Amino acid sequence: MVATTDLAGDVGEILLTEEQIQARVAELGAQISADMAGRTLTLVSVLKGSLPFMADLMRAIRLPLRIDLMEVSSYGGATTESSGLVRILKDLSSSIEGEDVLIVEDIIDTGLTLNYLVRYLRGKKPASLRICTLLDKPARRLVEIDVDYTGFTIPDQFVVGYGLDYGEIYRNLRFVGVLKPEVYSAG
Ligand code: IMP
Ligand code: MG
Repeated sequence: MVATTDLAGDVGEILLTEEQIQARVAELGAQISADMAGRTLTLVSVLKGSLPFMADLMRAIRLPLRIDLMEVSSYGGATTESSGLVRILKDLSSSIEGEDVLIVEDIIDTGLTLNYLVRYLRGKKPASLRICTLLDKPARRLVEIDVDYTGFTIPDQFVVGYGLDYGEIYRNLRFVGVLKPEVYSAG
């Protein structure tokens, strides 16, 4: 794709402002802190999209916590993607056996990535396994996912910003928005 220098200018509609995101992250942090009071959490962030969310959410949680990072990618091609085959590019650094684990995701779309990840992490025998996603696009769900914490439910639109990319660009925007149609046609 052709990356422009005016990142914010490529966005046609702002779906979630920086203020809305920060307010919701504070609420999620408070809720998680209350639900998991007295425990030590292990947050597992799914790179790269959840990086800003992870950084903000971990600081909104008032509990002792560890963090770990995984990176996964769907196998290329629409047919293999729909089979839910996921490749692990970066695995956990430490054992999560007996830990209270919270998966931190940017967005759940078809649910195939998370479905794979949940089964993979369950196999590591954590004491508990919960899911927190910033965004949920339920319109395109192919597998049912039990989400414990959702930031925002959004319509079936491709969004960028606050970690989310188009062609690896736009992750550093502080808001979440929809790209102008001409940005796609230029790519
Ligand atoms: P799923 O396996 O279909 O749930 O896909 C989840 C992954 O697809 C996310 O972690 C994102 O990397 C990517 N994705 C899905 N929808 C969007 C979007 O609207 N903008 C950017 N990335 C997206
Ligand atoms: Mg992506």
